[in-house]
Amino acid sequence: MAGRVEGKVVLLTGGAMGLGKASAKALLAEGATVIITDIDEAAGRAAATELGCEYLPQDVTDWARWQNVIAEVETTHGRLDVLVNNAAITVFGSIADISPEDFKRCYTVDVDSIFMGCKAAIPLMARSGGGSIVNFSSAAGNKVSPDLAAYNSAKAAVVTLTKSIALYCAREQNGIRVNCVQPGTILTPNVESVIAGTPDPDATRAAFSVAQPIGRMGEVDDIAHLVVYLASDESKFATGAPFIVDGGLSIA
Ligand SMILES: NC(=O)c1ccc[n+]([C@@H]2O[C@H](COP(=O)([O-])OP(=O)(O)OC[C@H]3O[C@@H](n4cnc5c(N)ncnc54)[C@H](O)[C@@H]3O)[C@@H](O)[C@H]2O)c1
Repeated sequence: MAGRVEGKVVLLTGGAMGLGKASAKALLAEGATVIITDIDEAAGRAAATELGCEYLPQDVTDWARWQNVIAEVETTHGRLDVLVNNAAITVFGSIADISPEDFKRCYTVDVDSIFMGCKAAIPLMARSGGGSIVNFSSAAGNKVSPDLAAYNSAKAAVVTLTKSIALYCAREQNGIRVNCVQPGTILTPNVESVIAGTPDPDATRAAFSVAQPIGRMGEVDDIAHLVVYLASDESKFATGAPFIVDGGLSIA
């Protein structure tokens, strides 16, 4: 039986670890050709070797590099069907604590990168006959904290940017669908290390768990399965939509 994304060429940013790596693994298992990129070259190459996919070094905040990455994908594969804009950073701090430089850094990595990725990829995806773009927002774009001013607002901006690009693609009738995912707290290695770095890790783990009304943190597969659905033709009527998979966090 053919895989759910058989034959599709997928470019996925931030694939060295966490949700990006898990999504790449799930896409590969369903028959896609996956190219992961990451700013961390050692971790990116190690992940690609482990997963059995291609790796390209990339800082997603670099517009010239975006253009080169898309050109390299076209030279090697001749097409691009799916772009997963996963790479991001979390910058902590309230309006009082956060510096203008750190606020801007969060937006550059989390929002500007998605603008640049879509802008660079859409012409090749259109020439490929259409496809699917999956942008990573977060439930933190819905449910805010006084201590996450930059991240909360950057992830909310991803939702609106996704809708605008989706409407552009629909108007162009280029066959490209654009959606975003809004995970709740997912137990990635990075979340594990944040928990471990707090004064009382057990209390932090419990607090992170009950923040989701469902009573626990998510697993990476909870989001990887959603990415496969959005990358596949199963989601062919979905565009401009935020897909919330967060154990109820956004409505609590
Ligand atoms: N883990 C969660 O609980 C959670 C919840 C909601 C949303 N998200 C979102 O899901 C996505 C993945 O999260 P994660 O927890 O797996 O993150 P992570 O920090 O484990 O991995 C992010 C990857 O992006 C890479 N990266 C960072 N800056 C980059 C840059 N400038 N250029 C290229 N690569 C860069 C990192 O090297 C890393 O490999 C992010 O968009 C995040 O905001 C995560």
